Amino acid sequence: MSATMQESELNDDGRSRLANVASVLPPRYRHALYSELTGLDLQIQQCKDWAKAGTPGSWLYITGPSGNGKTHLAAVTAKYYAVHGKTTTPEWSFLWANSAEILYARHDYVNKPGRSDHDYLSRYYRPDLLLLDDLGSERKTDYDILGLYCILNYRWDYMKTTIITGNLSIGQIAGVLDIRIADRILRASTVVTIEAKSHALGGE
Ligand SMILES: Nc1ncnc2c1ncn2[C@@H]1O[C@H](COP(=O)(O)OP(=O)(O)OP(=O)(O)O)[C@@H](O)[C@H]1O
Ligand SMILES: [Mg+2]
Repeated sequence: MSATMQESELNDDGRSRLANVASVLPPRYRHALYSELTGLDLQIQQCKDWAKAGTPGSWLYITGPSGNGKTHLAAVTAKYYAVHGKTTTPEWSFLWANSAEILYARHDYVNKPGRSDHDYLSRYYRPDLLLLDDLGSERKTDYDILGLYCILNYRWDYMKTTIITGNLSIGQIAGVLDIRIADRILRASTVVTIEAKSHALGGE
């Protein structure tokens, strides 16, 4: 079940945070464990260290080629953070979001009467922990990049803990997305790099 502890070892707050994270994670990653990942001992340790340090406003950027366990690692780390991180507020909140999906769904949302773009984006401002999956997979229009900038810049300004996964290096983010987005990620993040070839395609 848990990131590292038996459920019976957790106090009520830890149990409720873990249940919160698990209920928000998509089914494919809900029950994911660190122990299922092969060849990523260093990266797992980096993620655990980041979560336990609980530095206010710190982010985790997990990067590497496709199919190598970034989302798996991020999902387990969100659960690990819920249990081991310095989460002090009783109503601690977690949100999972795919970067392309956020911006794709935004077009539908704002096209309906009475809906504001700010209301839409601000859903991603508030959670105590946001897992932004697959940064770089979204369309690269100015409008989409601005939306992403607003979310990440808010989370930077308000020191909100954020886990990001993506295929792009920080340098590529500056070139392909936006230099300010790259700047915020670089300043805030512990960067965890997975170098391996595709796990799914049999790489080691
Ligand atoms: N090192 C590994 N050991 C065991 N299973 C792995 C490993 N890497 C990936 N997997 C499995 O392969 C599948 C793909 O992993 P995951 O979705 O985390 O990849 P990703 O790096 O996020 O890919 P993408 O960039 O395409 O989103 C998952 O089912 C995951 O459990
Ligand atoms: Mg992924």
